[in-house]
Amino acid sequence: MEQFFVVGGKPLNGEVEIFGAKNSLLPIIASSILVDDEVCIENAVPYSDVLAMCKIIEGLGGKAKWQGQRLILDCRNLSADTVSHEVASVVRSSIFTLGPILARMKSAKVAYPGGCDIGLRPIDLHLGGLRTLGAKVVEKNGYIYAGVLNKNGGDVTLSFPSVGATENLMMYATSLQGQTRIFNCAQEPEIVDLQNFINACGGQVSGAGESVITITGGKKLHGASHYVIPDRIEAGTYMIAVAMCGGRVVLKNAIASHNDKLIAKLMQTACKIKVKDDTIEVLADGHPKNLGEVETGVYPAFPTDLQSQITALACVSEGYSLIIENLFEARNKHIGELLKMGADIRMRGGIAIVKGRDMLYGADLVTPDLRGGASLVLASLRAEGYSTIKNIGLIDRGYYKIEEKLASLGAEIKRIKEG
Ligand code: EPZ
Repeated sequence: MEQFFVVGGKPLNGEVEIFGAKNSLLPIIASSILVDDEVCIENAVPYSDVLAMCKIIEGLGGKAKWQGQRLILDCRNLSADTVSHEVASVVRSSIFTLGPILARMKSAKVAYPGGCDIGLRPIDLHLGGLRTLGAKVVEKNGYIYAGVLNKNGGDVTLSFPSVGATENLMMYATSLQGQTRIFNCAQEPEIVDLQNFINACGGQVSGAGESVITITGGKKLHGASHYVIPDRIEAGTYMIAVAMCGGRVVLKNAIASHNDKLIAKLMQTACKIKVKDDTIEVLADGHPKNLGEVETGVYPAFPTDLQSQITALACVSEGYSLIIENLFEARNKHIGELLKMGADIRMRGGIAIVKGRDMLYGADLVTPDLRGGASLVLASLRAEGYSTIKNIGLIDRGYYKIEEKLASLGAEIKRIKEG
């Protein structure tokens, strides 16, 4: 097993390239199942979650080939409709294959998904949406069995704007005759990216980024090449790192408008930020002012995937901050680890009351989940003394060579074999 060894207290200076968005790549890889042709995904990154999705594609009879940051997927010889527990339970995004497999194979047998331990993460909206669109869906012995009862499109309303359910239904609806409309859908940038990919393959999808998405299905999809948007959560993680450690860092290949809530908060409290084309320059003295209140919500609200990281920032900001997590009831396991570093945090329901301190202290830490792990990396970069961070495979799910990027900015961080 590997762990990070970090010596804190160094400012961050230099340039960092933001990689392709994990949460775009995962549904786009699933949607390649819809295409009886080769597709080419540019700006792709072998995050471990992406590699797990490629394994699922191969298990269905498809092919996945890497050429640097180009991922070529070929589902011409798809021969199976089953995703086993062994591969499905590794990632949350395995559930995103249910709609595409059903669309392509007219039957599907998919085991329950895995994913970060940040809450119950039910899939009722996925399954209920498919049933509304005429699929037969039965849950039995840890698997979801699905078949097609009605081939015509229709209307479906999500009781909650779930990202994954929106994507699953978008993909399934490409196989239905006529028009399908999804109401109260998620509006994240990754949904727009998925729409753009499906349209590049000859699909007809519109409305992504707003609350109603319309799909005109029944068209045969063909191969295409698609450049994936940059990862707004990676970008936000690095911006918060500079706010905590001080320094001057230019983020390249970043879309500032995808992080407008974070940028506004950081400009009020911790950083000077200059946006020019696809670069974001962040300048900070490492002494952030009071954050006040940060409340997570569905896009375009403050993203839950940056909650753990901004909680780490609150630990070294002035006065009391309130961090309110509204999406995942168990996205708080990083707090127990931050307390080991001397953080002053109290939990009241889904609200973290954080009393900022000027200093955190290095400690031996264990990564609880992907973004919780990122918050521990940030805290250890700011802390006095050294830290070890175990279970870093969870961080590799959504950050690629994070330690190399941070070291290139002057951080003292190494990936070592666990002693
Ligand atoms: C996606 O997860 C992202 N993952 C998550 O990123 C992100 O935190 C989340 O969207 C919210 O933005 C991927 O895209 C692979 P949801 P997803 O369905 O689709 C409830 C990361 O760190 N819900 O929008 O699973 C659910 O319990 C990961 O990169 C149901 O009740 O999120 C949660 O409370 C973590 N029933 C809320 O909706 C359902 O059927 C939001 O979940 C589905 C979801």
